[in-house]
Amino acid sequence: MNGRLRLGYHLLLMETLFSKDLVGLEGITKPELELIFSTAETFREFLDRPIRKLPTLRGKTILNMFFEASTRTQASFDLAAKRLSADTVSVSKKGSSVEKGETLLDTLRNIDAMKIDAVVIRHSAPGAPHFLARHTQASVINAGDGLHEHPTQALLDMFTLMREMGDFSGKRVLIVGDILHSRVARSNIFGMRAWGANVVLCGPRPLVPEEFRGLGAEVSWDIDAEIPKADVIMALRIQRERLSASFFPSVREYRRLFGITAERIARAKEGVILMHPGPVNWEVELDPRVPEMVKTVILDQVTNGVAIRMAILYLLLAGSKEESNGSSA
Ligand code: CP
Repeated sequence: MNGRLRLGYHLLLMETLFSKDLVGLEGITKPELELIFSTAETFREFLDRPIRKLPTLRGKTILNMFFEASTRTQASFDLAAKRLSADTVSVSKKGSSVEKGETLLDTLRNIDAMKIDAVVIRHSAPGAPHFLARHTQASVINAGDGLHEHPTQALLDMFTLMREMGDFSGKRVLIVGDILHSRVARSNIFGMRAWGANVVLCGPRPLVPEEFRGLGAEVSWDIDAEIPKADVIMALRIQRERLSASFFPSVREYRRLFGITAERIARAKEGVILMHPGPVNWEVELDPRVPEMVKTVILDQVTNGVAIRMAILYLLLAGSKEESNGSSA
């Protein structure tokens, strides 16, 4: 199938699988993941071309609302929209009327009144995207809601694994760090379990509660026992901004007990893949010598993120509204 036919087929599938929003991966199914990955693969191939612009979402308007700091996700959504010829508008907390006391809902209602097709939102409050989705006809995409979910990060993580190792069902994915405060870990647990991978969570006991077993993940507090068994190691950032209590004695102590060090990685399986969603705290969760020692895909994750976000925008916006621009990829 050529690219144009493939994407048309994806739209037909999408109408049966997807709702208007992407607020999380809880409850996602393997066929939905397959659809997203195969759509993203078409866009990923396109990103390697010299001219990276498609008319697919011409006439659509996407609002980027980032109320928490972001480099990768914000730039990636903006680029994804622009690669598909959508118009973008950005609102951040700083400099918007939120600073004057306007509520999130009022902000959305006002911008909605100017006619938009999708809202990409990052917010510190868990559930903020779900709340907005109930109050707008526009598609709402969660770009990270507090400690809850970060679905497009997990999708790009899984898509990167698909590209690196093919079907990773049955593989052992070790996620190391501050699991308790990690929306990336939560979305990856939902997505990777739906795909059929084995997810192992590891970190200091207060940051990796037993309750995560209820989500279908294994829990371990012994990184030295886990690294040699892992097919994939995903290090997470220590989120100092979310650590209200003392979950471990010091950053130095964290590095000693749970850092991915050169000494530890020397005991990893041949061919192990190292991931990190970024931003990385070098010398804390990752030893700077480690990327020289094993296959490290941190920047591939970023590139693949643009393709995943193009796929999500396409699947949510191009479907029933194709008549408005008459175009397809
Ligand atoms: N991985 C990620 O969400 O990075 P940003 O916070 O820079 O968007």
